[in-house]
Amino acid sequence: MELRAQIRSVAHYVPERRVTNDDLSQLMDTSDAWITERTGIKERRFVDTTCAGTSELGERAARLALAQAGWNAQDVDLIVMATLSPDLYFPGVGVMLQQKLGCRTIPALDIRAQCSGLVYGLSVVDGYIKSRQAKKVLLVCAEVQSPVLDLTTRGRDMAVLFGDGAGAMTIEAVEGDGSHRGILDSFLGSDGSGAEVLCMKLPGTATPGFISADDIQQSRVHPSMDGKLVFKNAVTRLLETAGTLLKRNNLTPEQIDLIIPHQANLRINEMVRTQLGLPPEKVFNNIQKYGNTTAATIPICMSEAVAEGRLKRGDLVLTLAFGAGFTWGGNLIRW
Ligand code: UT7
Repeated sequence: MELRAQIRSVAHYVPERRVTNDDLSQLMDTSDAWITERTGIKERRFVDTTCAGTSELGERAARLALAQAGWNAQDVDLIVMATLSPDLYFPGVGVMLQQKLGCRTIPALDIRAQCSGLVYGLSVVDGYIKSRQAKKVLLVCAEVQSPVLDLTTRGRDMAVLFGDGAGAMTIEAVEGDGSHRGILDSFLGSDGSGAEVLCMKLPGTATPGFISADDIQQSRVHPSMDGKLVFKNAVTRLLETAGTLLKRNNLTPEQIDLIIPHQANLRINEMVRTQLGLPPEKVFNNIQKYGNTTAATIPICMSEAVAEGRLKRGDLVLTLAFGAGFTWGGNLIRW
């Protein structure tokens, strides 16, 4: 009998504090015109000082997803958490969710695939379900990135791009229901030669002394990126991922009902869309409102797409992501 990992629910949570491009231009030499033209972003959400960390946002999204699925925390038998911004250096955020949500002493693991966190996460969940190690899985993607951004002109190339937010999904093992719904295929890749092209080096064990006062003084504690190189690699790998998943499932781009790409730059997603020959309504974007929330972008998009009626039961969905590592990948899902 056919065993499938079916998505039961998806939900999201973003902090209330809106930070517009004009707000950022009060802090650094930037402008709404530059940010809008280069990225599509108009505003993003930042946590306030009362936020207890990424697990807090993850918990809020997870509770919404659990309620939507009609599950209680005791039903969950695996937590998969994706983030690049953990509450602590260790342990991971998965165990914090286990405790905060009141789950049983189930396995809880963290995935470190940055912007590809959701696509890696769905692939991992699919594997656990198909190997019969889990039946009811909570996948959470959450990021609190604003505290590590350099909100001065020196850090403007990165600071204007990122935001805070969380998305969560419940995914269930379903056997032979005849619907063919569920995760149909996943394709993942990585290329560590790009590790330092987009990274945050400190604190890190590769640095003698781990972290010093001088590092903080000299602003070496913020993320950095060669934007143009990341941009080029992103377009190439996203198209390669789409091509691979379409080909090995005998599909044409037109047969996909909705593409949900990672939200790093509206221009990247527009290039991918035009290369695939698809109309704007076949690609979901919300970077305008949230900026790049790293692992959380795709589940936030999914949650909004469902709420707006753009993602319906039975639709064929393609996720596409590229990010730091480099890592990339996608999932083909019958919703
Ligand atoms: O999610 C992970 C994956 N991330 C991505 O995929 C991001 C990929 N990269 C990008 O989206 C784009 O490269 C950026 C949006 C980051 C940058 O756009 P760009 O068109 O590549 O601009 P640039 O970095 O070449 O900078 C152009 C100019 C520079 O000035 P000069 O040297 O031409 O005088 C920058 O100093 O824009 C300047 N600049 C800014 N100006 C105003 C850089 N950041 C800003 C800013 N405001 N925030």
